[in-house]
Amino acid sequence: MTQTPVITVDGPSGSGKGSLCQMLARELGWHLLDSGALYRIVGLAAQKNGVSFDDDSALAQLAVQLNVEFRPGKAGEPAAVILDDEDISDQVRAETTGALASKVAIHNGVREALKELQRSFAKAPGLVADGRDMGTVIFTEAPLKIYLTASAAERADRRYKQLLAKGESVNLAALLEDIQLRDERDMNRAVAPLKPADDAIIIDSTAIAIEDVFQQVLAEVVAIR
Ligand code: DC
Repeated sequence: MTQTPVITVDGPSGSGKGSLCQMLARELGWHLLDSGALYRIVGLAAQKNGVSFDDDSALAQLAVQLNVEFRPGKAGEPAAVILDDEDISDQVRAETTGALASKVAIHNGVREALKELQRSFAKAPGLVADGRDMGTVIFTEAPLKIYLTASAAERADRRYKQLLAKGESVNLAALLEDIQLRDERDMNRAVAPLKPADDAIIIDSTAIAIEDVFQQVLAEVVAIR
C-alpha cells in the first residue's frame, strides 16, 4: 500500500471521531479524510437524481463520478466539503443526510467505487482518516488505528446539545432512536461492517472529554513518527 503515515479513526456516529480527527490533522499538519462525507454525498446525489436506494450499480456510478475536496476549517470549525467547487458542507452534515448515507453504504458497488478515491487522500506528510472501515478495509497497513466509541445515550445527548446550539429544534428520544438504527445498520451489514480492527486501540469516550482523548492519541502518534 502506501508509505505515507496514516492514522485511522473508526467508530459509531457521535463518538467524537470528527472532532478528534480535525484536532489531529490541525496539530500534525496532515491531510484529513472524512469518509462519511463521501457516503453522505452519494446519498444526497441519489436523492437529487431520483436513483433508487436499492440500485447498487446506479449508486456505484454516482460514486465513481464524485469530484470532492475537504478544506480544513479554522480552529474549532469543521472542514468544508467542496463538491465541484461548491461548498455543500451544510447539506452534507444535516441529520437526515446521515441516514441516506447509511443506506447507500450497505452497497458493495458503492464501497468499491469509493475505495481508490479514499486511498488517494494518503499524501505526504500524512493522513488522518475518519470513518467506519478505515482500519479494517481501506488502510489496513496504517501504523496507528483508533476505534473511538461511547454509549448510545451519551452520543445522542452530545448530538442533541450540538443541534440545540445551532438553534435547531430536536427531540432527544428521536435522536437516540436514529443513532441506534444507524448503529444496527452499520454494524450488521454484510460488507465492511463497523468493528474495531484487530490491532486498533479502543477508546471509550463516554466519560472522557475530547481534549483528553486527543492528548491520549497524540501520545501514541509520537511512537509512530
Ligand atoms: O461518519 P458519518 O456519520 O458521516 O457517516 C455517515 C454514514 O456513512 C454512516 O452511518 C455509515 C456510512 N459510512 C460507512 O459506511 N463507511 C465509512 N467509512 C464512513 C461512513
